[in-house]
Amino acid sequence: MKISGQAAVVSGGGSGMGAATARFLAANGAKVAVLDLNPAGAEAVAREIRGVAAVCDVADAASAEAAMAVATAAHGPARIAVNCAGVATAGRITGRDGPLPLDAFRRVIEVNLIGTFNILRLAADAMSRLEPLDDDERGVIINTASIAAFEGQVGQAAYASSKGGVAALILPAARELARYGIRVMAIAPGLVATPMLLGLSQEIQDSLATQVPFPHRLGVPDEYARLVGHIVDNVLLNGTVIRLDGAMRMQAK
Ligand SMILES: NC(=O)c1ccc[n+]([C@@H]2O[C@H](COP(=O)([O-])OP(=O)(O)OC[C@H]3O[C@@H](n4cnc5c(N)ncnc54)[C@H](O)[C@@H]3O)[C@@H](O)[C@H]2O)c1
Repeated sequence: MKISGQAAVVSGGGSGMGAATARFLAANGAKVAVLDLNPAGAEAVAREIRGVAAVCDVADAASAEAAMAVATAAHGPARIAVNCAGVATAGRITGRDGPLPLDAFRRVIEVNLIGTFNILRLAADAMSRLEPLDDDERGVIINTASIAAFEGQVGQAAYASSKGGVAALILPAARELARYGIRVMAIAPGLVATPMLLGLSQEIQDSLATQVPFPHRLGVPDEYARLVGHIVDNVLLNGTVIRLDGAMRMQAK
């Protein structure tokens, strides 16, 4: 699908890879709605790209429905939906303070997995009602897993479970939505220099960067955005998870 002229929604568009994706899509002619829990981030990015901001918690049905309605009112139903909203709260299953609080585990699953599904279900329903384009395509939904889905580290029980869920969602969703000409994909980034990662100490960042075989550095958000652009463009990409990691394989710790 050509990006130019399409309506797009980007969850987590107020920061990091979501913001880079919103900028990339807008620069290539899309009308972009920036959905984020953080109003300041969403509004700043939307202003910069002349898009629309919609504040929402992706984990909440009514909040996401309201945000998607704002996006549709501004630009029409989206043919491109990108799920970038996420949290990376770490925590050991058991530690000095006892077992991981169940609500801590639950919140990560709610944002990363249920939040992804929430936007996916709303975007897919709206796309299914649109007229088909070339190749009978109606839309594309691109989600964000993580290499932690496959190599979760100590302290990532919740995060890795949530991202494993996203990875496992892709094929059944692509199979089900194929009859509408809607593609479903995921990107599994390795280490990307975003506020999520830049919050770690410089020492940890440097140590992480040395573990990336090539290129021997952290990824940058634009590399993620450019892969989103290729996935939108290439109709044969469907039902799979693409690693974007410079051959990084995370160790246990
Ligand atoms: N940075 C990395 O190295 C890395 C690696 C693998 C996967 N990821 C994944 O990539 C995605 C983007 O992460 P990023 O690194 O750009 O992080 P980021 O923190 O820069 O951006 C995440 C955005 O999601 C928003 N958000 C959080 N909870 C939300 C909610 N409930 N509802 C709506 N918005 C919410 C935040 O406000 C923020 O703007 C996440 O899903 C993350 O898990 C990141």
